[in-house]
Amino acid sequence: MGIRDELVVGSRLALTRAAVWGIAASGDPLARLVAAPWRKDPYTWHAAMRAGTGVHRSKTGAVTVGRHALVATLLRDRRLGVRTADGAQPEPVARSPLPAAHEVSPTFLEQDAPDHTRLRALARPAFGPAKIAGYRESVEKTTHRLLDDALARPTFDLIADFAAPLPIAVISDLLGVPEVDSARFQHYGRVLGASLDGVRSLSHARALRDATGELQRLFTRLIAERRAAPGPDVVSTLVRALDEDKLTEQELLATCELLLIAGFETTSNLIGNAVHTFAAHPDQWAELTATPDLAAKAVDEVLRYESPVQLTQRFPHEDVEIAGKRVREGTMVVCGLGAANRDPEVFTDPDTFDIHRENSGEQLSFSSGAHYCLGAPLARLEGEIALSALAERVPDLKPVGRHRWRKTTVIRGLTEYRLAR
Ligand code: HEM
Repeated sequence: MGIRDELVVGSRLALTRAAVWGIAASGDPLARLVAAPWRKDPYTWHAAMRAGTGVHRSKTGAVTVGRHALVATLLRDRRLGVRTADGAQPEPVARSPLPAAHEVSPTFLEQDAPDHTRLRALARPAFGPAKIAGYRESVEKTTHRLLDDALARPTFDLIADFAAPLPIAVISDLLGVPEVDSARFQHYGRVLGASLDGVRSLSHARALRDATGELQRLFTRLIAERRAAPGPDVVSTLVRALDEDKLTEQELLATCELLLIAGFETTSNLIGNAVHTFAAHPDQWAELTATPDLAAKAVDEVLRYESPVQLTQRFPHEDVEIAGKRVREGTMVVCGLGAANRDPEVFTDPDTFDIHRENSGEQLSFSSGAHYCLGAPLARLEGEIALSALAERVPDLKPVGRHRWRKTTVIRGLTEYRLAR
């Protein structure tokens, strides 16, 4: 693809952006969630998604669903998939529109049954609750090593120095990725995480193509190494499945990429969002520092209050009715995870952060149904250990300077959050 073709892609992306902006300017809640400058305040638009029946037709062509009961039901409804009935993956596609050097397979997050079922089953054994409980000691060790380094300095960036490197180290260890370049992985995570909103610009398309290519090369090397010398890691297990023809090499590469990126990108935002929220609620932080055992419960409330994944989408494989509204086959249905998490019908005073809330476990931040987050037990373990270690070792939370939210809609997290010792 030459420069001219790339410019055509760039113009098409710019036109799409301008069109969404135009719709947002007319007050459309979904378009406002996606477009700057309105996306800075997502909860106003989440409330609009819950209003009335909780089902709205957006001028973008999608239907939005914002109430907890509806979102939970839809995510479990087998008549809807992550692709359309003909197997197509409609826009926005989380892939670069620029051609890749090698073939790129969709991950199982982007597939429906039967491929989804087959591939998820191959990865599942490594992430079950009992298996994950066995990682506690090693997660604690990594947590304290990172905090030792961060706290040796007068100020540190919670995100770059702790919230991101912790889950990166943990998932890399599980997968058996040697020589982890944490800063490089953080860059991949941001580029791929942002693509969940759709590709925004030519430079994003290029960054996405390059990140995917580099990850493919990394895992191609690792697969060859593990085939020659298998270990106890997840990649070795998946290579055995490849040799038994349970998946193709392209599917293996896509699965490795998914496990790596999903394994740290969201967990890093969970930790960042947690500390940011506690800094705004010093009384509850004081409780946590007095009783770090509250951390496990607090994780669910943080997930509810500031979900690292705010939206997901599904496509009906036949005409369906949602809260009395007929939705045609193939329409994009945007499920508001963040909106459902603040539904007053389920959570009393939903805009109040309360670590003692009885039912915070009913949050939908890990989704539900066939695509329920495979890494939820691991994310919970890391969140709990990170929070209790911070409560013990940084009891005086002192944010320094201004924090910045990411310019993304699906992923909610901070780019930088500096704390003083
Ligand atoms: C706080 C941290 C996390 C959050 C909020 C989160 C959230 C999610 C959500 C919302 C989905 C489903 C999206 C949908 O239904 O369309 C998902 C799927 C997934 N997550 Fe997580 N995740 C987290 C951590 C992790 C970790 C640590 C891993 C470890 C490998 C992981 C691996 C996956 C995988 C493999 C899927 C795809 C499941 C499938 O399609 O069957 N996640 N996650």
